Amino acid sequence: MKYIIGNWKMNKTAGEIVEFTRGLKKYKFPKDKDIIFGLAVPYVYLLGMSKLQVRFWIGAQNVSEHSHGAYTGEISAEMLADVGLDFCIVGHSERRTLYHESDAIVNEKLKQLQEYDMLPILCIGETLEEFEAGKTHDVLSRQIREALKGLDLKKEMIVAYEPVWAIGTGKSATAENIKESVSFIKSEIKKVGADYPVLYGGSVNPANASEILHIDCVDGALIGGASLDPDRYVQIASALYSN
Ligand code: 13P
Repeated sequence: MKYIIGNWKMNKTAGEIVEFTRGLKKYKFPKDKDIIFGLAVPYVYLLGMSKLQVRFWIGAQNVSEHSHGAYTGEISAEMLADVGLDFCIVGHSERRTLYHESDAIVNEKLKQLQEYDMLPILCIGETLEEFEAGKTHDVLSRQIREALKGLDLKKEMIVAYEPVWAIGTGKSATAENIKESVSFIKSEIKKVGADYPVLYGGSVNPANASEILHIDCVDGALIGGASLDPDRYVQIASALYSN
C-alpha cells in the first residue's frame, strides 16, 4: 500500500476548498492501484469535506491529549472518531516546536487516538542542529520509543519521517538520507515489536516526487505546501504510476 497524504496546515477558506476539489475532479484517479489519497484539513472544514464527494481519506492535523472536559479550544479523539475521520496527524514538528509538545504529550495523544480506534500518522524527525551534529539516529530512536510507550502495538499506525530542516524550505532530504533514515526507523519500530508503514515529508514537490516515492522502503509522502494546489498534488501522485 502507498499513501499520498496532503497536510494543508492552517491554509484555505471554504471557497478555496471548493476550487481545490473542482481542480481534482479533472483527473481520473486509478482505482486498481493500492494507493490511498488523503488530506489533513483544518478542523472547521472536516465535516464539510464529506459533502464534496472526493474519495479521499480525510483527517485532522492534531488532537487533544485529554479525553474531555474544561480544555477550551481543544478537540478530543472521541470527537474526531464521532465525525468519522480516517486519520489524525500527531507530533508534527510545528506542534512540537511552536506549541511545545513533548514526547510525553505525543504519547498521550496517541493513547487517546487508540482508545477511539483512530489511525494516527505519527511525525518524527530531527532538527538541522541535530542533523549536523550526527544525532539523527538518537533523536529518531528516542521519539519512537517515547511515542509508543504503553500503546497497543497491534493497532494500525503510520509514521512520517519529516526532517525539520526539510519542511517548508524547498530543500528536501537527499534520496540517500531518506533511505538511510527510513530504514533505520523501520528497524527501530521492529525492535519494539511493531510494523508500520513509513512516509517521507519535507519539501516533496512534482520535481522530486518520483525519486522519493521510488525509494523501496518509503511507503508514501506527507506533503505540505505542494498539496495546496490540485495540479501539483496530482503530479506528485502520478509519480507513483510512472517508472
Ligand atoms: P512541506 O511539504 O511544505 O515542506 O511540508 C511538509 C510537512 O510539514 C507535511 O506535514
